[in-house]
Amino acid sequence: MNKKVKTISPSDISQPELHAYLLSAVAPRPICFASTVDKDGNVNLSPFSFFNVFSSNPPVLIFSPARSGRDGSMKHTHQNVLEVPEVVINIVNYPMVEQMSLSSTAYDKGVNEFEKTGFTQVKSDVVAPPRVGEAPVAMECTVTQVIPLADAPGAGNLILAKVERMHIQEEYLDADGQLDTQKLDLVGRMGGSWYTRSSGDSLFEIPKPVRNKGIGVDRLPTAVVNSAVLTGNNLGRLGNLENIPTAAEMEAIRTDDAVVMILSETNAAELVTKVHQLAQKWLEEGKTQEALALLFSYE
Ligand SMILES: Cc1cc2nc3c(=O)[nH]c(=O)nc-3n(C[C@H](O)[C@H](O)[C@H](O)COP(=O)(O)O)c2cc1C
Repeated sequence: MNKKVKTISPSDISQPELHAYLLSAVAPRPICFASTVDKDGNVNLSPFSFFNVFSSNPPVLIFSPARSGRDGSMKHTHQNVLEVPEVVINIVNYPMVEQMSLSSTAYDKGVNEFEKTGFTQVKSDVVAPPRVGEAPVAMECTVTQVIPLADAPGAGNLILAKVERMHIQEEYLDADGQLDTQKLDLVGRMGGSWYTRSSGDSLFEIPKPVRNKGIGVDRLPTAVVNSAVLTGNNLGRLGNLENIPTAAEMEAIRTDDAVVMILSETNAAELVTKVHQLAQKWLEEGKTQEALALLFSYE
């Protein structure tokens, strides 16, 4: 590999520049749409994409309101969870994205962004902050820890939120009662003002790594690993297979009609390319074991 690389030491560039690189690189990020209340019961609703699930036992989500990059001030959400350690984390899907974006406006403390954005405020079961009625999933949480990473402008504050109740709109469940990724159409935050939508062609499935451990790319023939035809994704799929093909499997593949045709039509110089192209076609068709046998037969 001979690619030109730009290398950055965080202390050599400004905080906004570093912020932009980090947020474009670490993406897409899920969005925690956090509803909180202050000690007087004023409701706040704001989005945070420094967010993820970190444990299912106990069920813990973490998000991070940062100190303002301009003046180091604390976000209202951060202030609220220190006053009332509870939060409802609402999950954002495509039909909600523009109203959610509006809620990130720096309204004054005490302004209720449910009202500003037109989202429906639904009373929670076990925590004070309300949930968003439109959200496909909403989780009532208690805040177990708030961990400041520093006091400087841009510094994050990890808010550890333990899930006490989960509300799922039934229209997003499939026949097995599981959340249906296609129906959910969740959105993710990218760098700048970009978002991503998870539906249609942007969704794809990869078979999970086999339980008994795949053979690994390192056990594929060298010509396959260095192929000008096969991609890294092709190699990953092949390396997930459990066994090197047997002599019988390789013998059988040599009699396959498509293989026989290649052998009859192709000169020796082109053979490897043609074999790799056929293996790639089989991989796309889901014939992974056959592709592996072919590649081991003509290495
Ligand atoms: C999709 C999205 C994701 C955001 N993620 C974060 C984040 O992870 N951390 C943060 O400090 N601000 C983030 N912001 C900006 C806050 O939402 C914004 O500062 C908001 O005004 C904070 O509201 P509050 O002061 O009422 O808590 C994000 C904004 C949007 C639109």
